[in-house]
Amino acid sequence: MSAFFPATRLRRLRRTGTLRDLVRETSLSVDDLVMPLFVAPEALPNERLPGLGRHTVESVVRECDELLGLGVTSVLLFGLPEEKDEEGSGAWIEDGVVQQALRALRQRFPELLLLTDVCLCEYTSHGHCGVLTEGGEVDNDASLDLIARTAVSHVEAGADVVCPSDMMDGRVGAIREQLPQTPIVAYSAKYASAFYGPFRDVADSAPAFGDRRGYQMDPGNVREALRECEQDVAEGADMVMVKPALPYLDVVRAVREHFRLPLAAYNVSGEYAMIKTAAAAGDLDERAAAAESLTAIRRAGADVVITYWAKEFASWL
Ligand code: PBG
Repeated sequence: MSAFFPATRLRRLRRTGTLRDLVRETSLSVDDLVMPLFVAPEALPNERLPGLGRHTVESVVRECDELLGLGVTSVLLFGLPEEKDEEGSGAWIEDGVVQQALRALRQRFPELLLLTDVCLCEYTSHGHCGVLTEGGEVDNDASLDLIARTAVSHVEAGADVVCPSDMMDGRVGAIREQLPQTPIVAYSAKYASAFYGPFRDVADSAPAFGDRRGYQMDPGNVREALRECEQDVAEGADMVMVKPALPYLDVVRAVREHFRLPLAAYNVSGEYAMIKTAAAAGDLDERAAAAESLTAIRRAGADVVITYWAKEFASWL
């Protein structure tokens, strides 16, 4: 039973910074953050959204050196191939851009945790996350083999963890069969979201026709998110993910309550861009808004937050 005013005065524990630190329920540390990085044939720095620049293999090595210096120990690699084709072969070839980056980073930084995004959309000429049937539909089962092949090539090049983001049914099982020992972080509840806009510009991965609603989840659904997680867990996922994060905090909470696996949430490019843009316009304080957002994602139940702020956040501490 709770006591009431004046016996209870909740402000007592808010009086000083030390007291507030002592009783804070949710922590936010660089240990919980993962920095996404884009590797491409040519660098393309991004002034407005610094976390969304393109790196070459050489510059990604420098970037990881800086990240480690700041205490960021986990990165999630995305690639832009030299050339795109129908099958997305740039995703799994031995000298693909991500594979080259992995070899360079693995050798230089044994302590750096290397996660890779496993998907075909950056590599296919049509921009879909799987291969197409003759009729132009995404062919779920024919895509599985290529997705598993991509994951295997990443691990052979030095990846620690693979993260399938394609949303094909059965992809976790297909990868698990090939890689019994590798941790899999499944993008389990990945929604068909408008908040991926800035990412698609940087990764040049917008679909050439149609959209992703035939494989990514409908924004109105939460029970289905739990089914996606159940399926990925059954197929051998080690961690599940909700993406985007801020518009889906209720989904983060629901997954946290239903599963005992570690949970990641992806604070996506549009969430980052909204705050950057508002801060540039003078409407809000970027550091405070970023810290508040990341704390909210942790409070909703995420253990791990993938965020373009990882580097900047570490530099503010
Ligand atoms: C697909 C992928 C996407 C993102 C991460 N992996 C884009 C998409 O599904 O269209 C988006 C991440 C972001 O917006 O930050 N490989």
